[in-house]
Amino acid sequence: MGVRFIKIASVYFAIAVILGLVMGIIHNFAFSSVHAHINLLGWVSMALFGIIYCLFPNAGKTKLANTHFWLHNIGLPIMQGSLFLQILTGNGGLTIGIIIGSLIVVLGVLLFVFNLLNNVRSS
Ligand code: HEM
Ligand code: HEM
Repeated sequence: MGVRFIKIASVYFAIAVILGLVMGIIHNFAFSSVHAHINLLGWVSMALFGIIYCLFPNAGKTKLANTHFWLHNIGLPIMQGSLFLQILTGNGGLTIGIIIGSLIVVLGVLLFVFNLLNNVRSS
């Protein structure tokens, strides 16, 4: 699962810095939070998940890691897509998407923690 996390993290990195660049060029900082979280949950967190799963294959090869991967990669686009659209359109109804996406991401993080606590050992 480590390699998959690292590869997809790089895609989020590209999306986040392009958004940051556009924000800077057009002087519109309304999307700062989207840029920040795509960078931090997409690039930084996923690169860390990937490196940790590569470093500790006992944890990286589990079903837990697979479920964590999918929860993070389903939750994050829902969370940040809803936030992006809400800022763009002002539609308050999209808050439910932000909440559901965030809960999915948090659930994934809890599986990650459980996985590390149970399957990471010093060799
Ligand atoms: C070429 C790369 C990048 C560009 C052009 C860029 C651009 C920007 C811009 C224009 C803002 C808004 C600043 C403001 O509201 O005053 C911003 C905010 C932010 N950026 Fe970036 N950024 C880049 C890379 C990154 C990276 C790699 C990270 C994290 C790993 C990051 C994290 C943040 C955070 C957390 C904020 C929000 C700061 C706040 O709310 O005070 N950025 N960025
Ligand atoms: C499901 C996970 C997360 C949720 C629900 C969440 C939620 C939030 C919320 C509600 C804010 C305030 C936004 C605003 O004032 O516009 C915020 C800001 C911030 N969060 Fe998160 N966060 C999450 C994960 C993270 C992670 C993993 C990091 C860092 C590794 C992070 C770094 C930040 C930073 C730097 C800010 C201030 C920058 C900004 O958005 O303007 N967050 N977060």
